Amino acid sequence: MLSAFLIINSLCSNHCKYCFYNTGHLKRTSSVFDFSKIKKLITFLKEYGINEICLTGGDCLHKSIFNKTLSFVKKMKSSMKNLKVNIISSAVNINEKNIYRLKEAKVDVFFISIDSVNVKTNDFLRGNTIKTLKAIKLLIENNVEVRTISVITAKNIHEVRRTYDTLKKMGVKEIIFQPVFLPLTYSDPFNLRIDNLDRIQIKKLFLCLRNILLEQNKERYYYLLEKLYLKQETINSINCFMGNKKIVIHQNGNVTRCFHDQNVLGNIFDKNLRLPLKFGFCNNFGKKCVSLFAEKYYCGVRNERN
Ligand SMILES: C[S@@+](CC[C@H](N)C(=O)[O-])C[C@H]1O[C@@H](n2cnc3c(N)ncnc32)[C@H](O)[C@@H]1O
Ligand code: SF4
Repeated sequence: MLSAFLIINSLCSNHCKYCFYNTGHLKRTSSVFDFSKIKKLITFLKEYGINEICLTGGDCLHKSIFNKTLSFVKKMKSSMKNLKVNIISSAVNINEKNIYRLKEAKVDVFFISIDSVNVKTNDFLRGNTIKTLKAIKLLIENNVEVRTISVITAKNIHEVRRTYDTLKKMGVKEIIFQPVFLPLTYSDPFNLRIDNLDRIQIKKLFLCLRNILLEQNKERYYYLLEKLYLKQETINSINCFMGNKKIVIHQNGNVTRCFHDQNVLGNIFDKNLRLPLKFGFCNNFGKKCVSLFAEKYYCGVRNERN
């Protein structure tokens, strides 16, 4: 299955301390994907055999575009019957009053970001914890598939196990943990870096992660993280599937191999668009990110036993 991330906007209602948009790695703008160009998007998806799309941001469910995004999801699903439409969101705008809209839109998977179930910790890192927890509960009660993403920083390492157990008990289908990415030039005023933890702390964290990831059959991803963080080995060539099985479409229609790639392959609104059928690996993994969802799609270090 080929799939695309579609960045709808870069605005959101949180101010997460480590966010790419707050550390200077990416620039927040007011631009929003033009929903009226849905036909061109569908033509592009069909032409390139893409049958899964993941709407992200910023927050594609930001109150300024909440209804528009969900109408767009409905239209996409009715124009392409086999299209899987997922959403990644902080979920802070989902509540009892609008849950029916989400059900109507028939989003396939909701990825919700929450770094800890400890309100104080998550409020510090992301904000709006109670709203996020309520939204997770509400979606699950309404039979919507929820998966969560927790970013690991030095501030939530002691709560990884509790967060995993609590979310699992709530009915979350998959609980993803990904280490924080902070640019080397970032001064890290909140001491979030996990590379700076002392050996005892990092060993404890990895013992906990090992159990959790093995429980979820994510053994290979565990060994990858172990190499990067525990053994501090450099990994240059990794197939995280970005650029191969997955691409990114930006608000203005530009296509790149991954979120961190400056090299624009083309624009979906361009009449003469001719993208190569194989885009080529992005090769950013480990250097610029420990890619979102890499754990799922990671298939090994090229030319190395894994
Ligand atoms: C950029 S956000 C966009 C979607 C939505 N705003 C959210 O927070 O879920 C996508 C995911 O990237 C994660 N993320 C943001 N900055 C990150 C960083 N510096 N390192 C690792 N993950 C990060 C977020 O926590 C979220 O799970
Ligand atoms: S909600 Fe998402 S986009 Fe907004 S600051 Fe947090 S991680 Fe960044």
